[in-house]
Amino acid sequence: MDTVGVIGAGQMGAGIAQVSAQAGYRVLLSDMNLARAEAGKAGIAKQLDRAVTKEKITAEARDAALALIEPVESVAAMGPAFLVIEAATEREEIKRAIFAEVGKVLSQDAVLASNTSSIPITRLAQAAPDAGRFVGVHFFNPVPVMGLIELIRGLATSDATVATVEAYAVRLGKQVVRANDAPGFIVNRVLMPMLNEACFALGEGVATIRDIDLACQLGLNHPMGPLTLADFIGLDTCLEITRVLFEGTGDPKFRPAPVLVKYVEAGWFGRKTGRGFYDYSGPEPVPTR
Ligand code: CAA
Repeated sequence: MDTVGVIGAGQMGAGIAQVSAQAGYRVLLSDMNLARAEAGKAGIAKQLDRAVTKEKITAEARDAALALIEPVESVAAMGPAFLVIEAATEREEIKRAIFAEVGKVLSQDAVLASNTSSIPITRLAQAAPDAGRFVGVHFFNPVPVMGLIELIRGLATSDATVATVEAYAVRLGKQVVRANDAPGFIVNRVLMPMLNEACFALGEGVATIRDIDLACQLGLNHPMGPLTLADFIGLDTCLEITRVLFEGTGDPKFRPAPVLVKYVEAGWFGRKTGRGFYDYSGPEPVPTR
């Protein structure tokens, strides 16, 4: 059976594991320890239960997908996988350490992919066992809902590696776009300046949080306003990617907005910390200014 390894059972890793299992792949899911991997699987079970309640999938399909997901103790269990996707914390040294570990057990022709949203693939490939079999595979949050995968080729990525990941993405029912290994790839290159600009607009007193969001949501027909979306992604992540754009291009148009920097310094990262541009402690998010 086709086995996929997913490293990281947080929001992105769990989403990737879920859609892979729903596409019929056997999934080995790892995190810092078995308990975390199991918690990731429990979260997937909840998502699938919700989909059953909404009659989007049958109870049998839920059970079949769950049966395909095996939480494992560590990356040492990834040996049977033809494709291993790393979706761990967005810190280069953590990813490098994972690649060194998993490199010890990967089979000769297995592909190692990173879900990084901002670290250059060519550089990360240096920590992989084989740069030719290393590639960027960028999913979007929430993974089960978003129809896109960005496929990012490092300088050394082989055609066979690209073909393997493309076939996997197609089986998941996602559309694939190919991007070169440039800062922010495609989506974040375009998205982050918009979110950052909304932060500048807020800082300069152009409008309130509510009005900036409502203006973009209704005026542009976006599902979420930019400040809501920044909170959803995580303000720390938005700042990190904006810095990658700024430093990677040297172009001042990408400089991070002071408001964004301040919120991150305050530990207000958005939804995941309960506060960002909105306060999430009550039943509905409330704008903080
Ligand atoms: N998992 C599975 N399904 C989910 C979900 C999740 N986590 N969250 C929402 N959904 C589903 C709901 O079940 C619902 O499905 P139905 O319509 O079939 O019932 C549908 O999505 C809509 O959800 P809701 O009605 O609860 O709420 P909504 O209409 O506000 O939609 C949203 C929520 C899908 C998140 C929508 O607001 C949206 O698309 N927002 C923009 C998300 C976005 O831009 N993501 C990309 C971020 S950038 C990124 O990820 C990359 C990076 O590197 C930073």
